[in-house]
Amino acid sequence: MTKDDFIVVLTGAGISAESGVKTFRDYDGLWENHRIEDVATPEAFERDPVLVWRFYKQRYFQSLEVQPNPGHMALVELEKHFGENFLLVTQNVDGLHTRAGSQRLLEMHGRLLTCFCVCCKANFKMSEVDLNPDIPVCPACSDSLRPDIVWFGEMPYFLDEIYVALTKATVFISIGTSGMVYPASQFIAMARHKKAKTIGVNYDKPENNMYIDEFHQGKSGEILPVLVKQWIEETM
Ligand code: OAD
Repeated sequence: MTKDDFIVVLTGAGISAESGVKTFRDYDGLWENHRIEDVATPEAFERDPVLVWRFYKQRYFQSLEVQPNPGHMALVELEKHFGENFLLVTQNVDGLHTRAGSQRLLEMHGRLLTCFCVCCKANFKMSEVDLNPDIPVCPACSDSLRPDIVWFGEMPYFLDEIYVALTKATVFISIGTSGMVYPASQFIAMARHKKAKTIGVNYDKPENNMYIDEFHQGKSGEILPVLVKQWIEETM
């Protein structure tokens, strides 16, 4: 790595695993106990908004109880070192990157900390709406609120900015993601096609591991602090 490199990092549920947040597809992960089509699609929300809200309220309250781990913190250090030449893209909705201090961050699948009105589209912090009703109500227009989560079949946020960053990336780092959910799963191939060096940090080999040039297998909370220290030292 050199100081002129442009670093794009993609994270998934694995980076928050050591904070105590469940991943989706691992043993005992969220999708073992819930069907995606029951809680994570627009059709599910139309069919049974009470069930969908119950699922996301539970996850919202859990997210307030967990803390960022050394993997999140290491990425804050990497951002401080590379400044404008750094972008963190996350599929996570738990808010832990923000709480760790990451600023150049795009939360492409939304966030548990906010919700928005299905009618007037006004966006609210969960902390400023009454979560007691089975389906919380918009303070602005009294229609239903919905979680600010990008569900399956919906368009992820910030795709234009992400694609621009991918064309500039000289190093792409994939962390804690199974590489199974489109379009995030394709970012590594796109970056590599543009000649970026690709690095993977994951507990298991991800689905898209054929695009990884340098793979570090294990827990991101243990591996990232060491790697980041090394990358910063070699680019001082
Ligand atoms: P997954 O649950 O699919 O994958 C988590 C990955 O993290 C797996 O490859 C694990 O091996 C790895 N892992 C587990 N613990 C780890 C640790 N301590 N350190 C490093 N790696 C670890 O989660 P995602 O890939 O994030 O979307 O899932 C992508 C999207 O699918 C999510 O954003 C969510 C989900 O359905 C929506 O809800 C729209």
